[in-house]
Amino acid sequence: MNILETKDLLFDYSGHKVLNGVNLEIREGERHAVIGPNGAGKTTLFNVITGSYKPSAGSIKFQGREISGMKPYQLNRMGVGRSFQITSTFAKQTVFQNARMGILSKRKVRFNPFSKVDKMHKITEETNLLLEQSNLAESADMPAGLLSYGKNRALEICLALSTDPQLVMLDEPTAGISKDETKSLVELIRKLTENKTMVIIEHDMDVVFSLADRITVLHHGEVLACDAPEVIKNDPFVKQAYLGTLEV
Ligand SMILES: Nc1ncnc2c1ncn2[C@@H]1O[C@H](COP(=O)(O)OP(=O)(O)OP(=O)(O)O)[C@@H](O)[C@H]1O
Ligand SMILES: [Mg+2]
Repeated sequence: MNILETKDLLFDYSGHKVLNGVNLEIREGERHAVIGPNGAGKTTLFNVITGSYKPSAGSIKFQGREISGMKPYQLNRMGVGRSFQITSTFAKQTVFQNARMGILSKRKVRFNPFSKVDKMHKITEETNLLLEQSNLAESADMPAGLLSYGKNRALEICLALSTDPQLVMLDEPTAGISKDETKSLVELIRKLTENKTMVIIEHDMDVVFSLADRITVLHHGEVLACDAPEVIKNDPFVKQAYLGTLEV
C-alpha cells in the first residue's frame, strides 16, 4: 500500500515549471531516496508535499486522503514530519528545550503562560528518552547554537521525529558533515526510522545505497526513474550525472 502518492504535481515560479508533472509513489514502511542534480526540484517537492508551498496543480494523497493545500501544522498532526536542508533548530534554546517543543506538540500541549512546563514530568521524561535515542543526552543543557555541525544535524533529525510521525521526510541530513559523522548519522537515521516510512533527499550516494529500499530520480522537475537501488545504480543517466560527465 502507498502511504504517499502525488499525481501530475505541478509547481511553477512565475512561469518556470519547477515541478513538471511529478508522479511519486511511496510505499508504507519503505525507506525511499529522492536524488537528482542541484536545482532538480527536490526541496521544492518536499515543500509542496509538506504544505509550505501550494501546488499549482495536481494531487497529493497521504494515507489515501487528499492533502494538497493543507498547512504544515495540520500535516504534522496527521503524521507527516520533516527536517530542513538548512539547519532550523533554535540556536539560543537548549537541546532539551528544542526537543521538548516537538514532544509538547505531539501531546497537543498548547502554550499557556500560567502553566509551568518544567513541572510536566511526563513531558520531561519523554524528551529525555528521545534525546537518549538520538545520542544527544550529554548535550541536553547546551544551547543548540553551540553544538558541532554534525550534532546539530542529529538534533534536526530528532526534531523531525519528535512528533512520532508515520512518514518522515529528511532533506539532505548529512550535507556538509565529515565522513565519520555521516556514518554515525546514517546509523541514527536507520534506528530512528525503524517501523516508519522515510523519504530522504541525499546527494551522498553511499548514504543513498546503504539506506534506500527504492530510489526516485528527479531531473528538471520530472521523475526520470523510480526503482530498486541496483537498477538505479546501472541507469546510464544516474551514472553520468553522478560521475559528473553529463551536462545538467
Ligand atoms: N523561492 C524561490 N524562488 C524562485 N525560484 C526558486 C525558489 N526556490 C527554488 N527555486 C528554483 O526552483 C528550482 C528547484 O530548486 P530546489 O531548491 O527545489 O532544488 P533542489 O533539487 O532541492 O536542489 P539542491 O540539490 O541544490 O538542494 C531551482 O531552479 C531554483 O532556482
Ligand atoms: Mg534542495
